[in-house]
Amino acid sequence: MQRLLTGLQSSGALHIGNYFGVLKPFLEMYPKYESYLMVADYHAVTTLRDAGVLRQNIFNVVKDYIAVGVDPSKCVIFQQSQVQEHTELAWVLECMVTVPFLELAHSYKDKVAKGLEANAGLFNYPMLMAADILLYDTDVVPVGEDQRQHLEYAREAAAKFNNAYGETFKEPKELIQKEIAIIPGVDGKKMSKSYGNTIPLFGTKEEIAKAVMSIVTDSSGGRPENVFQIHKNFRPEAELDALYEANKGSYKTLKEALISDIESLVAPLREKRAAITDDDVRRILKEGSDKARAYAQGKMADVRQKIGITL
Ligand code: ADP
Ligand code: TRP
Repeated sequence: MQRLLTGLQSSGALHIGNYFGVLKPFLEMYPKYESYLMVADYHAVTTLRDAGVLRQNIFNVVKDYIAVGVDPSKCVIFQQSQVQEHTELAWVLECMVTVPFLELAHSYKDKVAKGLEANAGLFNYPMLMAADILLYDTDVVPVGEDQRQHLEYAREAAAKFNNAYGETFKEPKELIQKEIAIIPGVDGKKMSKSYGNTIPLFGTKEEIAKAVMSIVTDSSGGRPENVFQIHKNFRPEAELDALYEANKGSYKTLKEALISDIESLVAPLREKRAAITDDDVRRILKEGSDKARAYAQGKMADVRQKIGITL
C-alpha cells in the first residue's frame, strides 16, 4: 500500500480554503492509502506567540478533522511536536541546502511581504516540512496549489541527502486538485489563517455571514469575482452562472446565496463537532503520535548511522 501524508498548521481556525484545498481531497482518497494526518504545531510557532491560543488551536484542528469526516481508526492522526525526529531531521536537511535556495521560497517571501517577522524558523520552514514528509517514506502529499513549491523543496532535500549518503529517502509527489486553485480570502488575496482574511469553516452562522459580507467587491456592477471564486466550490459553475447573471450587480443577494450554501455544508458538521471532547482529542493524538513515532524512529536511526554520528 502506498503511503500518504498531509498536515495543517495549528496557527488559527481552519477556513474554507483549507477545506476545499486539502481536507475534502484528503477525505476522498485517504482510505486507499496508509494515511498520516498531522497537526503541524511546530510550524505554527513561526507565526504564533501565545501559548494558550496555540494549545486551543491544536484541539480545534483535530476536532475539525474529525468533524469533516476523518475516521481516526483509518489513519494516523498525530502531533508533529510529539515526534521529535521531525525537528531532528529538519536540522540535518537544513545542512544539505543553501541559503539562496531557501530564499526563493514563495511562502517565505509572501509572509514577509505581509509584514510577518522574518524569523529563522519561517526561513527554515520548508526543511521542517520536508522532514515531516521524508520521515515516513511518503509517496503522495495532498495539498493546495500554494504548497507545490514546498514539495519541490522536499524532493530536492531528499535528493541532496541521497546523493551524499546513498539511497535513503523516497522522493514524494504532491497531489493537487486541478480544479481547485487557490481560494481567495475576503480581501481577494489567498485565504490564509495567518492573513486574517478567512471565512472560518466552523464559525457560527453570524461569523460566517460577517466574513462573507466583508468580501471586497469592485463597483463595476458586474459579476463580483471574489464572491464567485469562493462560491464555485459549492455549486456547479453552470448553475452559478445563471444565478450571477440573474442577480447582476446585486452583491448583497449573491453574498446571501453564498452564506446559505456555506451554512448547508457546515451546519451538520458543526453538530458533529460539538460532541467531540478535549479528552477525545488527547486520546486520538496520543495513539497517533505513538504510531508515527515508531515509524520515524526507525528512519532516523538509519539517518544517524549514515551521517556518522552513531558510534
Ligand atoms: P493557512 O495558509 O491558512 O495557514 P495552511 O498553510 O495550514 O493554511 O494550509 C493547510 C492546507 O490548506 C495546505 O494544503 C494548503 O495548500 C491548503 N490551503 C490553505 N489556504 C488555501 C486556499 N486559500 N485555497 C486552497 N487551499 C488552501
Ligand atoms: N506547510 C503546510 C501548509 O502551510 C503545512 C504542512 C506542514 C504540511 N507540514 C506538512 C503539509 C507536511 C503537507 C505535508 O499548508
